[in-house]
Order: sequence, then C-alpha cells, then structure tokens
Amino acid sequence: MSRVAAPRVVNIADLRTLAKRRLPRGVFDYIDGGADGEATLRENSRAFEQVTFRPRSAVATTSCDLGVRVLGLPLQLPFLLAPVGSSRLFYPRGEEVAARAAGDAGTAYALSTLSGCLMEDVRAATSRPVFYQLYLLGGRDVALAAIARARATGFNALVVTIDTPVAGLRERDVRNGIRELLSFDPLAMAPFLPQLLRRPRWLAGFLRDGGLMKFPNVVLPDIGPMPYTDVGAALEQSMVSWPDLRWIREAWQGPIVVKGVHTSDDARRAVDAGAQAIVVSNHGGRQLDGVPATLRMLPEVLDAVDGRVEVLLDGGIRRGGDVVKALCLGARAVLVGRAYVYGLAAAGGAGVTRAIEILRSDIVRTLKLLGCSSVAALDRSYVNVEFAPTREPVPPPT
Ligand code: FNR
Repeated sequence: MSRVAAPRVVNIADLRTLAKRRLPRGVFDYIDGGADGEATLRENSRAFEQVTFRPRSAVATTSCDLGVRVLGLPLQLPFLLAPVGSSRLFYPRGEEVAARAAGDAGTAYALSTLSGCLMEDVRAATSRPVFYQLYLLGGRDVALAAIARARATGFNALVVTIDTPVAGLRERDVRNGIRELLSFDPLAMAPFLPQLLRRPRWLAGFLRDGGLMKFPNVVLPDIGPMPYTDVGAALEQSMVSWPDLRWIREAWQGPIVVKGVHTSDDARRAVDAGAQAIVVSNHGGRQLDGVPATLRMLPEVLDAVDGRVEVLLDGGIRRGGDVVKALCLGARAVLVGRAYVYGLAAAGGAGVTRAIEILRSDIVRTLKLLGCSSVAALDRSYVNVEFAPTREPVPPPT
C-alpha cells in the first residue's frame, strides 16, 4: 500500500504530518511558516471557515464537470499548482516531479524563478500548461534571457510576482539558522547541523540529488547558474515595479499574470499594465503580515476589474471545499501552494498526486452535496459570507 494512501492519509493535514516527519525542522518550517506573527497565514485559512454553504438538496447530480479555462487554456481541475521556490530541497528533482503530477491530473504547474530544475526539464515533464514565475533576480538582462528561454521552451504564460520587494521576516527561519546553514562557515553552521542529521532519509535523497541546488534558470554573466543564496538580499536588489511591466510585456509577447494583488488600486494598475490575469495573493502569509485574508479581498478586486481580466486567488486552501468557496465568490480558478508541497515533501510525485486527488474528490463531493453539476455554475447564491469583505477607502471630500 502506498505511504500516502488512506487510512494513513485522508486529508492535506495528514500529508503535512508526514512532511514534518521526513524533513529537517528548518526545511519543514520554511514551507509551513509565515511572516512575523503569522496572523495573515492564519487568517487566510480562517476566512474559508467564515464562508458557509447554501446547498440545494434533492438535486440529482450524477456527474460533475470540474473543467475551467485559464487564459484560454483548458484545465481539467479548477486549481493549479502555485510557484514555490526551492522545491528541489523538499524532494529530489522537486519541480519536475510536481509538474509531472500536475500534468497527469490535467492541470497546470507554475515554475518559480527560484527553482532547482531547468525550465526545459520541467516543460518536458508535462504536456499540460506550464507558467514561468518571474523575479528580476540578477537584473534586467538576466531576466530578459530567462524570458526568451521560457518563450523558446514553450511556457504558456508569465507570472510576475509583485509582492516581494524584500523577503518577509520568517521568524522560524531565523530561529532554525537558515542563514547560518547557507553561510558555509563551519563554525556558524555547526549548531544547526544536527537537524539535518536527524533526517537521514531526506539527507540521503538530498545528497544523491546533488546537494544544495543552484538556480539554473537564473544565469549570471561570468558566473553561470546563480548559486543558492540568501534570497532575501537578492530580491531586495531586484524588485519589480510597474514600469518594468512594459519591457517584460514587450519581451514576452504572451499572456501575463500579475501575482500578489491585494487591493482594488493595484488590480486596476495591473489591468493598465496589460495583465491578462491577476492573482489575489498575499504570498501565503509569507510577506506583509497583517494584510487581510485573500478571500476577504476578492470582492473588492472583482469589482475593480469588472471582468476586464481573469481573477485568480491563492492562500489558505487546504480542502476542496475551500476551492469551491473561492469559485462561488467569483475566482475563475485558484492556486494551491502548501497543500501540494506537503505532499511533495512527504512522498515526492506520489504525494503530489495524492494531494491533487484529495482536493479533486473533495470538490466533486462538495458539488454533489450542493446540488450543482459543474464548477462553471457556482456563484454567490451557494454561500453565506460571514465576514466583512474589504472595501476601497472612500476618498476624503475635496
Ligand atoms: C511560495 N510562494 C512563492 N510565490 C512566488 O511567486 N514565487 C516563489 O518563489 C514562491 N515561493 C514559495 C515558497 C514556499 C515554500 C511557499 C509555501 C510559497 C507563494 C505561493 O506561490 C502561493 O502564493 C502561496 O503558497 C499560497 O498560499 P498557500 O496555498 O500555501 O496557503
């Protein structure tokens, strides 16, 4: 029996437990943690509990259609896999493994700039859509080369993440000595090494996979693939700003998704900058702590864009019912981050497949219990919203 089959793994929380057992503490906390006091991390999930269903009972729904179109691309599921950096640290060839599992399930995979697998290998792993998530690491010329390569390789869309002018303070990372472990100074590393030795199965896989990954899609002049580094400092030197969208759009010549929109203002800016889609996202509570749950921000953003671009959402999704609630509130589709990463870290491709299957079967069951035969038919009439959505501030009278 597979390590991730029922009864051992029934839900995403079970995959999280297995991930925690397999990974060194620092790696697990890097995935699991959020910024500062983790208020936004908690809120993202809590908001889903504050939306309740209004089912239509005694409606026969023998089959359910889960298909959606994102940027005109057909997906068999209403969720796709979010860009997650450093996945190769979680499991050997992590990005490739996750992309393959997504493709096999009929959905898309978004590859982070901060990934350890070549974009060509990720593209080859799946016949379904792949998106390339862009950070301007290494500066404009390095980014232009990556954009050209993503185009030539057949990536379907570019995801420009705008909420990372600096990495959030992930307090768990500080306590676990992540900076010291990456310093390669034996004296600084020493106190934090036992956590790695306590996970021999993970360590063996990590070493077999080549040890600490580089970023092979960030090719620096004279240096080559960027060595693994303290990403916070690198991001600070390479933040994306609205004027950058112009040259990015010209270089890419394909659909652009702006990820990390929190407010109606930024949503409108993204539309003006030529985005075809936006992701209402607070980076899974890993950046600015104290912003509201994404689900609470969604109505404000939908109002602002008024159908001009596709609106996606991520943050806090741990059950298929959460996906259904986001769609009821108007998201075209959602991205899942930790939900699949726990699976990847627990058991590689089998774990990602299991995570996707859990969410998929949750969605089918929820639709049947709601008396609704397709995700396309979901709307506000299927839910009660028991929180106050965010509202655009009214400008003071002039
Ligand atoms: C992320 N996320 C992220 N986003 C991005 O645009 N580029 C990146 O490199 C990363 N890296 C990353 C690493 C890890 C470990 C996590 C958990 C997340 C954010 C990600 O795309 C997504 O917005 C959140 O994960 C969504 O929240 P949930 O589903 O994890 O709650």
